Amino acid sequence: MSQVLKVGIVTVSDRAFRGEYEDRSGPAIQIYLSEMLASPFEIHARLVDDQQWRIIDALCELVDRVGCHFVVTTGGTGPAPRDVTPEATTQVCSRMMPGFGEQMRRVSVQKVPTAILSRQVAGIRDQSFILNLPGSPKAIAECLDAVFPAIPDCLEHVGGPRIEILPEKFKVYRPHD
Ligand code: MTE
Repeated sequence: MSQVLKVGIVTVSDRAFRGEYEDRSGPAIQIYLSEMLASPFEIHARLVDDQQWRIIDALCELVDRVGCHFVVTTGGTGPAPRDVTPEATTQVCSRMMPGFGEQMRRVSVQKVPTAILSRQVAGIRDQSFILNLPGSPKAIAECLDAVFPAIPDCLEHVGGPRIEILPEKFKVYRPHD
């Protein structure tokens, strides 16, 4: 039996945090993973408002205390003054992985011109890979589809478990297999 992948999901939204609307993006990430993964995983979900310290707290708790191997954030990546998820992510990571943000924007801009407004980043904190997604529920699959083939290999390099993708979804690229 393979090791369980621990996944953190952080929804960053002032309005969802205040209860003004329901968080649909965090659950969309969970659904995406459950439709994609053939190996065991568990989800640890958090909902925070758009405050840098609160995002940092959630990321550190999920990586340092819960031991998540993969943390996905949604929201707070745009140009508005309260969009600070990329800053919080950069602050907690020891190394950044710029290819992920570049690829998600490259693919997303074919679907929506305002995808260029997302400052989404990805990086590594200890044994965990942290990935920003925009806040729109529609953006979740659009962005994850663009980078998911590289995620299993990335997680293994960082120190996470080997994960398997359902073969009918897509072929995982593992250069060393
Ligand atoms: N990327 C994809 N794939 N699909 C989208 O709908 N929305 C864009 C962009 N990236 C979008 C997307 C929009 S409108 C904004 S403002 C930015 O993400 C930032 O969104 P955020 O501040 O909610 O993170």
